[in-house]
Amino acid sequence: MKEKMDYEIIDLNAISDERGALVALESFKNVPFEIKRIYYLTNLKPELPRGFHAHKKLQQIIVCMSGSFDLILDDGKDKQIIHLDSPFKGVLIKSLIWREMHNFSNGCVLMTIASDFYDESDYIRSYEDFKKLVSL
Ligand code: TYD
Repeated sequence: MKEKMDYEIIDLNAISDERGALVALESFKNVPFEIKRIYYLTNLKPELPRGFHAHKKLQQIIVCMSGSFDLILDDGKDKQIIHLDSPFKGVLIKSLIWREMHNFSNGCVLMTIASDFYDESDYIRSYEDFKKLVSL
């Protein structure tokens, strides 16, 4: 589903039977880019939010595998809080959007699927620099 801001909530369809649910993620199928990296966050603390950056080129899908948290997205004009609590939904972020993750529940596990390898030079970690870049 395309949202007002430049992100999409993607349905990650599960193959379910009495044994449970299985979700497959495939490049250029339900993931609209070549998957080059997957990382996950665990042992999170509700009082210690994460993120606080934007990416210049990287595309990502963020999935809440277990528990719940609030994803804050900010494109420099609007701010959206998305409560994520399902491994069957992903948030696709393709463009310059500031993101923060807050309010991790007990046992929250967050997985990110990324279009490229880790590259610190793709990060914008200063909100001031981000605001300058989006207003260009
Ligand atoms: P950081 O960007 O602070 O995590 P978050 O945005 O989720 O709060 O990353 C924490 C550390 O991990 C930092 O030193 C960079 C490093 N890192 C990697 O080495 N590889 C990766 O793929 C990522 C995402 C981070």
